[in-house]
Amino acid sequence: MLLIKNGRVIDPSSGIDDYLDILVDQGTIVEVGRGGEKGKGDEVTQIIDAREKVVVPGLIDMHVHLREPGHEYKETIKTGCQAAASGGFTSIACMPNTNPVNDNQSVTEYILDKAKREGCVNVFPIGAITKGLQGKLLTEMGELSRAGVLAVSDDGKSVRNSELMRRGMEYAKNFNLLVICHCEDLDLVADGVMNEGFTSTRLGLKRIPNAAEEVIVARDILLGELTGCRVHIAHVSTEGSVRIIREAKSRGVKVTAETAPHYFSLSEETLESFDTNLKVNPPLRSARDVEAIKEGLKDGTLSVIATDHAPHSSLEKDVEFDYASSGIVGLETALPLSLQLVKEKVLSLPELLSKFTVNPAKILGISKGTLNPGSDADITIIDVSLQKKVDVNQFKSKSRNSPFHGWKLEGEALYTIIKGKVIKGIDGLVV
Ligand code: DOR
Repeated sequence: MLLIKNGRVIDPSSGIDDYLDILVDQGTIVEVGRGGEKGKGDEVTQIIDAREKVVVPGLIDMHVHLREPGHEYKETIKTGCQAAASGGFTSIACMPNTNPVNDNQSVTEYILDKAKREGCVNVFPIGAITKGLQGKLLTEMGELSRAGVLAVSDDGKSVRNSELMRRGMEYAKNFNLLVICHCEDLDLVADGVMNEGFTSTRLGLKRIPNAAEEVIVARDILLGELTGCRVHIAHVSTEGSVRIIREAKSRGVKVTAETAPHYFSLSEETLESFDTNLKVNPPLRSARDVEAIKEGLKDGTLSVIATDHAPHSSLEKDVEFDYASSGIVGLETALPLSLQLVKEKVLSLPELLSKFTVNPAKILGISKGTLNPGSDADITIIDVSLQKKVDVNQFKSKSRNSPFHGWKLEGEALYTIIKGKVIKGIDGLVV
């Protein structure tokens, strides 16, 4: 048995925020209470003293790009899982824009099989909405669902054809699949590379207006209403998107939404550096949008923080801004960047943790994100005040494309525990 003692246990799924012990037996949480070792002295084989630490349900990231199959030089299932565990995540959902695309049973099975053999965290594959992400033909969603997919998405781009998206939602609903929407109008984006505004004019870089995101957010919410399908809006970056989602939620529409740490930590002015690690899709927005994202997190319009971990190698990033690939690796910086919101008093610590645990678990429909007795002992132990300088060279991820290199941040996952097994401990990863 494993005993985690003396920690501040925060479990937003049950409202617990107290100094408690957690007892784990055979991969399952058996008790959360005081004096967990009493009467079980001999059976406890491992004790973790979590004094001055915060003990929480294992973090969940519902938006990760693992790059395998096809782009293993950027990330593999193995290294992506290691990066996740290093960042405190015990479960991740991976997007289908691999090569081949996860648009059929065999790719889903390949990912699940590899994750089982080589991955150290729980992996939940997301299937494509359209074959090859081409926006022309719907995938066989029944087959994907039977293979283990819980959600579908063409993440990386929007489904351009609204009629096809409607049919996709109707089809997904039949199999109770969540539809995760990448919202960018391809025509409004055109060859834009950064947010439209004063900075894009000054830098002479081609622009992407907020409306490119917002028209598709509005469209996909309307299609969700029309079809009754559960819709989740990915990587929200603009004030208008927050407003549209807030309004839809207030009318009872089945829509949820996430943002990523870079959208509340960085604004478009940072692009003055021309650092291609700042190039991301959707683009970094204005300071006003950043404030609106924080407001959306505060009032619950944005109920999830997901990383959109998007590894790219120097081949794709060490080029002119126009030609660089979009994406930021996020698994190993998400927690300290997000803890900043607690410091700024945007969110309380339990509110923040709900966006990494119970909320994504409910949206994906997985029995994770809780410390309730009987659940899998997926647990993260955090030192919320540990100061650390981000060093991309220390990342477990294969890729280094982070604009946060050199940032001094506070907070780190000291332990990542999956089914009672310590994957990351004080001496680092053990896998
Ligand atoms: O910046 C991004 N990169 N946004 C996406 O939606 C896709 C991702 C990728 O796959 O590189």
